[in-house]
Amino acid sequence: MDEIVKASPDWRAAMKRRGLEDYIDTCYCTPLAPGFFPGREDEVGHRVVRSLTYLIPNPGDNPWAHPVEGLIVLVNLIDQRVVRVEDRGNVPVPTQHGNYGLEVRGPARSSLKPIEITQPDGPSFAVEGNQVQWENWKLHIGFNAKEGLVLNQVSFRDGDEDRPVLTRASIPEMIVPYGDTHHTRYWISYFDAGEYLLGQNANSLALGCDCLGVIHYFDAFVADGSCKARKIPQAVCMHEEDYGIQWRHTDHHGRPDVRRSRRLVVSYFATVGNYDYGFFWYFYLDGSIQFEAKATGIVFAGANHPGAEDPHGTEVAPGVFTPVHQHIFSARLDVAIDGEDNTVHEIEMRQIPTGHENPFGNAFTWDDTQLKTESEAQRLANNEMNRVWSVRSAHRKNYVGKPTGYWLIPEGKATLLAQPDSTAYARANFATKHLWATQYTAGELYPAGDYPNQHAGWDGLPKWTEADRSLNGTDIVLWHSFGFTHIPRTEDWPVMPVDYSGFWFKPHSFLDQNPTLDLPSGGDSSRAKQDGDTCCSM
Ligand code: NI
Repeated sequence: MDEIVKASPDWRAAMKRRGLEDYIDTCYCTPLAPGFFPGREDEVGHRVVRSLTYLIPNPGDNPWAHPVEGLIVLVNLIDQRVVRVEDRGNVPVPTQHGNYGLEVRGPARSSLKPIEITQPDGPSFAVEGNQVQWENWKLHIGFNAKEGLVLNQVSFRDGDEDRPVLTRASIPEMIVPYGDTHHTRYWISYFDAGEYLLGQNANSLALGCDCLGVIHYFDAFVADGSCKARKIPQAVCMHEEDYGIQWRHTDHHGRPDVRRSRRLVVSYFATVGNYDYGFFWYFYLDGSIQFEAKATGIVFAGANHPGAEDPHGTEVAPGVFTPVHQHIFSARLDVAIDGEDNTVHEIEMRQIPTGHENPFGNAFTWDDTQLKTESEAQRLANNEMNRVWSVRSAHRKNYVGKPTGYWLIPEGKATLLAQPDSTAYARANFATKHLWATQYTAGELYPAGDYPNQHAGWDGLPKWTEADRSLNGTDIVLWHSFGFTHIPRTEDWPVMPVDYSGFWFKPHSFLDQNPTLDLPSGGDSSRAKQDGDTCCSM
């Protein structure tokens, strides 16, 4: 991309017109997915990419701090030629550096005393190849270029039985649509999996891991640009974390009983251009699964005159404007609650008017509505009424006679905010609902379709669910949209503190009792072995 753009006389003329000819050799010309806009003869049907230019005033500088506003280059990648250079306006390039390393931000503070995590007897998990066993959990770790981390055959041991929970779980898509009308950015709606390949962009944690304690790494293998196998050493990190209190109670004699919580963390980080995303799966001792996306890196910026009013962006440094945008992930949960024959239900609280059913006005209840078909199972969250989705075994009952199940608990933040007549709405239609459920069909893996790049849209979930297949006691896949809507703030500059978004998948009527009653008192087994240690149990 860099070579193609820099060879263009029109682009060079545009740089010169702006007085930026000194930066031509060192600047950064980004390759960016172009979106889709019907009727454009030089775009539709051609493999095109848009390029924006960023200055690198000094070697090693953060380019994202120096956007050349209004200079957009359309490149045909197959012909390797510039199709069109759009040169609009003449906004000065912001000059303040956006570097964040200690060489410019240091010296490092010295006030933090060490925290050391030690596991003298090693970790509590066992690994054989890609098969993991940790406490009651068993799972298989997979990885591919598009989805990144994939978990397979996840089960929870109950007594002497490994009970299935998930057949396969992954984050197969993510859309980053921008809410900006400016010519330089209105077209931005990146599919970070389908267009950029999350797994292909995975970090090698051999070069810097952020986890503490005893860590097990898994290498990843993906295809490179010429279809050769490429190894990403130590792409996936697995470790255990203390997680505070699992449960506690002080009885009426004043005697406390405490058990500590712990979780197994399976994670990887992908860097897609300016942004970095962490994908963290957490497994808890009580049968809960949590997924957490961590967004960090550098917010995408354009330029404007310092102090300009902009309804679509925040000025985070003089002349640096970061547009409002969303990061909406899709989780694909191929559920298997005690087997593949499952049902899905919506549960939410219901208030009852004072009267015959509620004589004292205090009462409330909940509704439990089975979603029997794919059209019924396209839902929005409703946090005011604690709306959750329950997936249940169609055959197995717990010991009080109720179907065994798990709850998908959403955060219920904003879905896609683009208008229904926008191309982003058609292309990322999965992101317009918090929940979709489909009948499992081989090959249905990507919620925006297999090839979202330059696609007109309505592929994937909206297309498959036209069949309106039954969800009544069959093999069900849940698709959950969640994520961040980001009005950038000055504190996000020049590198963004991690922001979090995710969901919980929790047993609900799956186990007959709290499965952590046999945890050692007060914490880990080494503590429990110490006679006379009465810190946490009397
Ligand atoms: Ni963001």
